[in-house]
Amino acid sequence: MIFSLNEEQLAVKEAAREFAQNELKPGVIERDRDMIFPEKQVKQMAELGFLGMMVSPEYGGSGMDSLSYVLAMEEISKIDNSCSVLMSVNNSLVCWGLETYGTEEQKKKYLPRLATGEWIGSFCLSEPEAGSDATSQRTTAIDMGDHYLLNGTKNWITNGNSSSLHLVIAQTDVEKGHKGINAFIVEADWDGVEIGAKEDKLGIRSSDTHTIMYSDVKVPKENRIGEDGFGFKFAMKTLSGGRIGIAAQALGIAAGAYELALAYSKEREAFGKQISRHQAIAFKLADMATEIEAARLLVYRAAWLKDNNMDYATASSMAKLFASEVAMKHTVEAVQIHGGYGFVKEYHVERLMRDAKITQIYEGTSEVQRIVISRSVLKGQLYIPVLGGEKLEV
Ligand code: CAA
Repeated sequence: MIFSLNEEQLAVKEAAREFAQNELKPGVIERDRDMIFPEKQVKQMAELGFLGMMVSPEYGGSGMDSLSYVLAMEEISKIDNSCSVLMSVNNSLVCWGLETYGTEEQKKKYLPRLATGEWIGSFCLSEPEAGSDATSQRTTAIDMGDHYLLNGTKNWITNGNSSSLHLVIAQTDVEKGHKGINAFIVEADWDGVEIGAKEDKLGIRSSDTHTIMYSDVKVPKENRIGEDGFGFKFAMKTLSGGRIGIAAQALGIAAGAYELALAYSKEREAFGKQISRHQAIAFKLADMATEIEAARLLVYRAAWLKDNNMDYATASSMAKLFASEVAMKHTVEAVQIHGGYGFVKEYHVERLMRDAKITQIYEGTSEVQRIVISRSVLKGQLYIPVLGGEKLEV
């Protein structure tokens, strides 16, 4: 087992850290407070190649592995999670979904714009009454011969207003249940697409989260992804990779809060010594460091499995479940270590604590991850993969 990163991966991590600390940190508190979309920062991310990291260079991307993407997500998430969620949705839901399951025409037409950040993408699955129960889609796409007619409402859509391309999941045949669901590429400026008001949220407040309404939108037949009825599997397969991105975000939030708490505990004195010298604080830091490292191993492993074409659906759910719970728990501890300072908005830990909550909810709640994991457990599908060899039962 090799636990080290290669030079390219280290360089990506370093570049993302530098960008986050130098470009994202200034103004992040104000952007969050006033719900200001990070337009300038998104352009910078595009220039640095962070929006199409895994897209092959043939379609305008950086052609990197998932592990590099995870390393960049982790560093950016230590500072600005409105930027990192945009990056995650664009990279692992939209670009990856299109590159893996799109036709050559779809890839040529859309991927170069998405990978270079000229366009941003959004993933439109959740509905007012279909969140965790994703097969209960009410949005319909009726086959009209040469096109589909799309009608319905999608909720809590990340990049709702900034995206030029929506991947929309809709029911084309109610009788067939999840086998009657399809995924479509919809351009945001088509007639009948309407963007609702921006959500006023607990965390990731400058991310543009919106309701999107589709009324009699004509979607050309060639914009369906995959075979008829592939839409639900498309969503599930894409989300399996997306969850690695959100797990990396949660890891970054936890690690960012830990870095702040550690630094503060060495500066702040109480009862005649640095608070880090008090066992009450030192033990908190020890627990944080240990659990964050465990989360990191799960996240990197899920990315490694994906990079090595091995089954990663359960590993990605485990990574997201654990990393998001660690993020929530240890951002609360980081606020505690900061005492009164942690409770005010000019200190970054307060924002990280609010941001942590969404990682337990989007791209599948912690409860949904437990459904996925428990099904694997009950089917006896857990094993240690061996490159080019047998699977070891655990
Ligand atoms: N890969 C491939 N196929 C899969 C799969 C996967 N990971 N997971 C399920 N499937 C297949 C199943 O094999 C089954 O196919 P067959 O009938 O042919 O065997 C089919 O899909 C239906 O699967 P289930 O019976 O398991 O479906 P279910 O109704 O029990 O639901 C669930 C399972 C895991 C709970 C699923 O509904 C789910 O993941 N829900 C959460 C949805 C979610 O993550 N939403 C996030 C919204 S997007 C977002 O947040 C983005 C953002 O903006 C940040």
